[in-house]
Amino acid sequence: MSLVEKLARPDLAAVRPYTPGVYEPGLVRLNANESPWRSPADKTDRGLNVYPPPRPDAIKELLAEHYDIAADQLLVTRGSSEAIDILIRGFCVAGQDAILTTPPTFDMYRLYAGIQNVEVRHVPLLQKQNFALDTQKLIEAINPPVKLVFVCSPNNPTGTSAPRAEVERVCEAANDRALVVIDEAYYEFANAENFSAFRQRFPNVVLLRTLSKFVSLAGVRCGVLIADPEIVKFLGNVLPPYTFPTPSIEHVQEAFTKDALNISKERIQLIRRERTRLAEAMQDSILVKHVYPSDANFVLLRARDAKQFVDRAYRAGILVREFPGQPELENCIRVTIGKPEDNDRLIRAISGVETSNDG
Ligand SMILES: Cc1ncc(COP(=O)(O)O)c(C=O)c1O
Repeated sequence: MSLVEKLARPDLAAVRPYTPGVYEPGLVRLNANESPWRSPADKTDRGLNVYPPPRPDAIKELLAEHYDIAADQLLVTRGSSEAIDILIRGFCVAGQDAILTTPPTFDMYRLYAGIQNVEVRHVPLLQKQNFALDTQKLIEAINPPVKLVFVCSPNNPTGTSAPRAEVERVCEAANDRALVVIDEAYYEFANAENFSAFRQRFPNVVLLRTLSKFVSLAGVRCGVLIADPEIVKFLGNVLPPYTFPTPSIEHVQEAFTKDALNISKERIQLIRRERTRLAEAMQDSILVKHVYPSDANFVLLRARDAKQFVDRAYRAGILVREFPGQPELENCIRVTIGKPEDNDRLIRAISGVETSNDG
């Protein structure tokens, strides 16, 4: 029995995939109820008067090359958020199955599970150990009805990477009982190696990547799910056709030219240097108790008084992220690494000198 046969929602096997109308460049399209004219503001190559391709195959090839995997192991989604959604909808029976998460972590796992009426089970990160994975507990929690285990590395909002040996144990333990979804939204900023090799070794491993961070395309909404071809094919049927917009396809193509990628690579290096600088400055601030080590494009800190830190930043014209209602993140603040001049401004706002000035 294959993994999909074993773990996927059985009722989905009966849903017949949609057959899209054909698209042949050069032929007049009187088969799709579109407008024959471009909108006056339309600057795209394809034309916005016609539907996008049912699947963005052009960028699928390009991204497969970038991530160095076969194209049949990759599914392009609207942000990796949509990948989380279709994983939960495809594998979890509403009112019956569960997902496993390691809070504090990315809140969208909870949201999409809630929308599908799927239980969220928790194995909290170890706060006193810089939010390390509680691997043994996590392994013990992989039991029916858990279908998906979400491991976020580097984790949002803690910034910590999960150690390879520990994730390996989780993948082995989950075996053919659950998929392990390794969310690597921030891996391009990490010192730790990514989990590509695990994808090849473990058929139950699904990797999530996003173009929202490292190539500056959050507004384009492009995510990538990397999995065994059978899982990709199955999820391809959970995802409706025509969802990926033409301007997004064209922006991704432009962002993956050699020159554009080189600029992104330089910016990643700059973010990494700025992360160290900002973390050191924050550690020196009397407003800050602890700065957690980060492998991402943000840093999590625990302030003596979060409100005071937030107010200082706000008065300097800067927004930072708080986590009200999450006791394990009491007084914690997540600061995204900005441009050097923005980071300078935050450093000035939280520096000891200014503290003594306004008490
Ligand atoms: C850990 C993690 N995963 C996934 C996402 C979703 O990214 P997107 O939907 O923009 O690809 C985010 C966004 O911040 C994130 O922090």
